[in-house]
Amino acid sequence: MKKQLFFLETYGCQMNFSDSEIIASVMNDKGFEQTDQINQADIIFVNTCSIRENAEQRVRKRLKEFNAIKKKNPKLMVGLLGCMAERLKDQLLNEEKLVDIIAGPDSYRDIPKLIHIAESGQKAINVLLSAEETYADISPVRLDKNGIAAFISIMRGCENFCSYCIVPYTRGKERSRNPQTIINEATDLFNKGYREITLLGQNVNSYLWNTENQKVDFPDLINQIAQINPKLRIRFATSHPKDLSDRLIEVIKKHLNIARAVHLPVQSGSTEMLKRMNRKYTREMYMERIQALRKNIPDISISTDIICGFSSETDQDHADTISLMEWVTFDYAFMFKYSERPNTTAYKKYPDNVPEEVKSKRLTEIINIQQKLSLLSNKKDIGKIFEVLIEGDSRRSKDFLSGRNSQNKVVIFPKKAFEKGTYVKVLINRCSTATLFGEVIEDLK
Ligand code: SAH
Ligand code: SF4
Ligand code: F3S
Repeated sequence: MKKQLFFLETYGCQMNFSDSEIIASVMNDKGFEQTDQINQADIIFVNTCSIRENAEQRVRKRLKEFNAIKKKNPKLMVGLLGCMAERLKDQLLNEEKLVDIIAGPDSYRDIPKLIHIAESGQKAINVLLSAEETYADISPVRLDKNGIAAFISIMRGCENFCSYCIVPYTRGKERSRNPQTIINEATDLFNKGYREITLLGQNVNSYLWNTENQKVDFPDLINQIAQINPKLRIRFATSHPKDLSDRLIEVIKKHLNIARAVHLPVQSGSTEMLKRMNRKYTREMYMERIQALRKNIPDISISTDIICGFSSETDQDHADTISLMEWVTFDYAFMFKYSERPNTTAYKKYPDNVPEEVKSKRLTEIINIQQKLSLLSNKKDIGKIFEVLIEGDSRRSKDFLSGRNSQNKVVIFPKKAFEKGTYVKVLINRCSTATLFGEVIEDLK
């Protein structure tokens, strides 16, 4: 039988991208193959995100577009996967009739069966959450374009229940993956030519594999992975400030191939807001962790996530966020307006009472401040020398190559006979807000 083709699109976080690679693997085992031509697809998969309302709106818009294609090709199936599937359950199948198949984050193995069910004209939905599923035995099909950097999921779910956040409801219980399968996957990637891996989880610091005869926590795990090969660069995301331990800092310090970059979402600089958000740390505790990081690893870069306009956020709370940003001097930040998510604690207990104009004004303010801080951070790098992993041609010009340094900054330099996937030493001579520019002074191949 001729193989059916499908098309796959991903919204949301890096974990979702990693999930799409698992889904691709499940489908390939059943004789499907990917196409990048939407018109040739028998099935379209949309892997979705519910983190903010606008993420969901974008998906709904796409689904409506697919419906138009379906009218021309009635056999075409549309599958809604991931967090939005989990949150809305059968609503998009029954009430809005926008999709044929619905699979939540723990039901990806079930997709081939769901396709059969849908083909027979029945309701094809599985949104059961599992306490154990980690897809540990599935070898993901790599969907990245360059073969240099890949993601590895090391844990799933989240039980932190930050009051604003939908993730604990869409992704279920926290569970960690067998460490040996993670090490095997990292080794395999290295052997295939990959040189950078990012270990993924909603809160990687609380990774814990605890069986009768083996106990492995995140510092243990990353310590082992770092020893696979010094040329394999290791990143991890996301870290929760409450769990960023001194032991983890020690391990990062010890291995030069663990990236000098930590993503440590602060969300707000006001202790009052942090309490309402159920983040379990204060402004001072966050500052103490930053000091510990910088004291031990002076060249570490620190990025963050910030939410503005959360329930009852005052001008003073907002000013506290700004003063914290300036105190830390974040190298990079993702910044969002608070978006109320149905059925979260905040939805039930804390009114979404900051007017839209105020949210927008505060967001613009913090974005402007972050621009200034990012530029400052890049200016400090002028005159420094970094090891850069070459990812390929620069997006703007074929005469330049692009890569990243350990701090996760993009570095651009003139093209010579350097190979993608190798390291070079680059002396930085100028910068913009988002990029460093320099000259190669040594090929480390
Ligand atoms: N697990 C990670 C991040 C998960 S979501 C962590 O704990 O840090 C990524 C970011 O989206 C969050 O850090 C937060 O800044 C933002 N976010 C989550 N829920 C949101 C909401 N309801 N409205 C606006 N931003 C939100
Ligand atoms: Fe959401 Fe908090 Fe879990 Fe991050 S730690 S996914 S913000 S509940
Ligand atoms: Fe979005 Fe789900 Fe990730 S809600 S941010 S895709 S865990």
